[in-house]
Amino acid sequence: MLKIDKVSYKGILKGVGFDVFDNELVVITGPNGSGKSTLAKCIMGINKISSGKILFGKKDISKESITERAKLGVSFAFQQPVKIKGVTVRDLLISAGTNKPEKYLKMVGLVPEEYLERELSNTLSGGELKRIEIASILARDAKLMIFDEPEAGIDLWSFNDLVDVFKKIKKDHTIIIISHQERIIKLADRVLVLENGQVSRECTADEFLEEVK
Ligand SMILES: Nc1ncnc2c1ncn2[C@@H]1O[C@H](COP(=O)(O)OP(=O)(O)OP(=O)(O)O)[C@@H](O)[C@H]1O
Ligand SMILES: [Mg+2]
Repeated sequence: MLKIDKVSYKGILKGVGFDVFDNELVVITGPNGSGKSTLAKCIMGINKISSGKILFGKKDISKESITERAKLGVSFAFQQPVKIKGVTVRDLLISAGTNKPEKYLKMVGLVPEEYLERELSNTLSGGELKRIEIASILARDAKLMIFDEPEAGIDLWSFNDLVDVFKKIKKDHTIIIISHQERIIKLADRVLVLENGQVSRECTADEFLEEVK
């Protein structure tokens, strides 16, 4: 599905390489500042890589625009969701391609009636925005879904629901989750550790959790 081949970016990423296979859930973890969000932005095309290659399916997407990558089936939920003035939650979800926005709000634990007509602005709390962003990625149902720290700012109760959502969709979706959370790491088919701009370890969730104990 995805091949990252010796990808470097501005001295932050230094020859990162790994594959993600169809219907696999890969969790990328590692210290703050190691380059995880930067890597996700490189895959989505927000950052233009300095060298290396990114293959999506058999296609080299290294030089494709964000829009083109989105069309091909790459989607990305930001660590810090973007606010868009004048755009409602309903607009966002509809533009993600669903005609059942309610369904996706329920999936992330929000009551549709209370949120559909709200604007994507500062009046939404950080956790609410984050959940709406996750809902929009779920609604997009892209070939590859990338989530950057979906747990960030989400309360414990909703976090449990979120873990269940990932558990449910992982069977038939290809997913990359950047996370520091043990419960998310446990869902992984494979764990990649990014340290200082390089993949320092690739292992199963059990192996990883055993080591950090
Ligand atoms: N546009 C930029 N200009 C300069 N430095 C940047 C830029 N973007 C990221 N960095 C730096 O690159 C490094 C990697 O940042 P990145 O956000 O990818 O880390 P991360 O692994 O996602 O960390 P965290 O776990 O805190 O989210 C950091 O030292 C950061 O300060
Ligand atoms: Mg980050």
